[in-house]
Amino acid sequence: MANKMHKSFSFFVIYALVIAVQLMQVEAKPSPCNVILGSCFTDNCSKKCMDYRGNSILLSSNCNFYNLCTCEYDKPPAGRSCTVGMGLCTDICGESCCDGNCKGRYMHTGTGVCVHDYDLYFCKCVYLR
Ligand SMILES: *[C@@H]1O[C@H](CO)[C@@H](O)[C@H](O)[C@H]1NC(C)=O
Repeated sequence: MANKMHKSFSFFVIYALVIAVQLMQVEAKPSPCNVILGSCFTDNCSKKCMDYRGNSILLSSNCNFYNLCTCEYDKPPAGRSCTVGMGLCTDICGESCCDGNCKGRYMHTGTGVCVHDYDLYFCKCVYLR
């Protein structure tokens, strides 16, 4: 009996450590600021990301999320919030699912809303940095 308790306590300690390390990583490493800037069908994405960078450093640009131009900056460009697309909104994953996914990734500042934009109905996750 005592041995059993000891064992489950050890598991609990390991589990708590794993969670703590994950939390520290999330909090310690500042994540870059993503900004969705238009559609890659109509714009030259890397050029657009450069044009909007202001005092921020452009880390990368891509069209991976449904061909939307997503720029990655070291910090938010002046006057812009950080946004990232998190899947399409559907009957199965709607507003609350979208918000949950966003808060799951950006625990303290994330807010997810389903938006009709660029001919898509997608989960727009806005977060502070
Ligand atoms: C996009 O803009 C960049 C930077 O101005 C340029 O080097 C590149 O050739 C352009 N690409 C296209 C497809 O126009």
